[in-house]
Amino acid sequence: LKAKYLGGIAQAGDEAALEELRLAALGKKGEISLKMRELGQMSPEERQTTGAALNVLKSEIDAALRAKKAALADAALDARLAAEWLDVTLPGRPRPAGTIHPVSQVMDEVTAIFADMGFDVAEGPQIESDWYNFDALNIPPEHPARQEFDTFFMARDPADARPPHVLRTHTSPVQIRAMEAKGAPIRVIAPGRVYRMDMDQTHAPMFHQVEGMAIGRDISMANLKWTLEEFCKAFFEVPNVELRFRASHFPFTEPSAEVDIRCSWEGGQLKIGEGDSWLEILGSGMMQPKVLAAGGIDPNEWQGFAFGMGIDRIAMLKYGIPDLRAFFESDLRWLKHYGFAP
Ligand code: PHE
Repeated sequence: LKAKYLGGIAQAGDEAALEELRLAALGKKGEISLKMRELGQMSPEERQTTGAALNVLKSEIDAALRAKKAALADAALDARLAAEWLDVTLPGRPRPAGTIHPVSQVMDEVTAIFADMGFDVAEGPQIESDWYNFDALNIPPEHPARQEFDTFFMARDPADARPPHVLRTHTSPVQIRAMEAKGAPIRVIAPGRVYRMDMDQTHAPMFHQVEGMAIGRDISMANLKWTLEEFCKAFFEVPNVELRFRASHFPFTEPSAEVDIRCSWEGGQLKIGEGDSWLEILGSGMMQPKVLAAGGIDPNEWQGFAFGMGIDRIAMLKYGIPDLRAFFESDLRWLKHYGFAP
């Protein structure tokens, strides 16, 4: 019996085989258990020797079972360690990291430059009410300027008489919101997305503007000119810029001026700050008294300048990008070419 069981245990290949052997020997109907039961019919002397021998055998088998079970578990662990082995010293596989969108990068540059000049940042919603986008900016319902904006209108229940909301056509509504929120004096810029139904090489239906506004008791065109010149020098990284203020018209400014920057196109290369060409970069002017009043500010006490600049446009100029639409195509080769991605 001893040889049979100890031999079997030694050869068992897994826990199930071990369990089978345990039941066959020590289980209720196991061979050893049956022999134990037979002890009752033996003479006292026989019972003593056989009983003792059976007890020894029983504990030997028991010990062998335990030892084999532990050995099997060790072997299983070794096998797993070998199979799931991981070399932590191998170099990692590089994964390309994303980068900030070029327009956001330019927006951050613009914001930082104006922050240095003491301008706070204000924001407004992209879905704007007719009031903030038009009326408050001195563009009443029948004003011809409304047509020039190529506005996207939101759907409105036909039974609702109120004018529909619009996708804001410029960042100028933030002028009104900022005046309401902070009063005067105030110095803010408002960068953000704007929308117009337009699409060609230099126009996209969604583009970006930064609005600027400064209100004080004696803010003048001279302050506007200085602010824009300082901005252009810092943004285009040139020691000198020349700006040309061209008389223009916006309902929300009086007087109004469109501003051009001196530049040259040598061999298709754009250079800012020198040459005989002019490029329009923004619209501006002194704030119309009605606009100040719409923002809750007394135009007899306060005056201010405002400007609105196309961010995508000045980014194109700074980086020499010919097609605006490329900004929104996420073409990695394009991003790399212009240094916007590693
Ligand atoms: N909102 C004008 C536009 O989008 C730009 C502008 C802003 C002009 C502020 C004057 C003052 O064309």
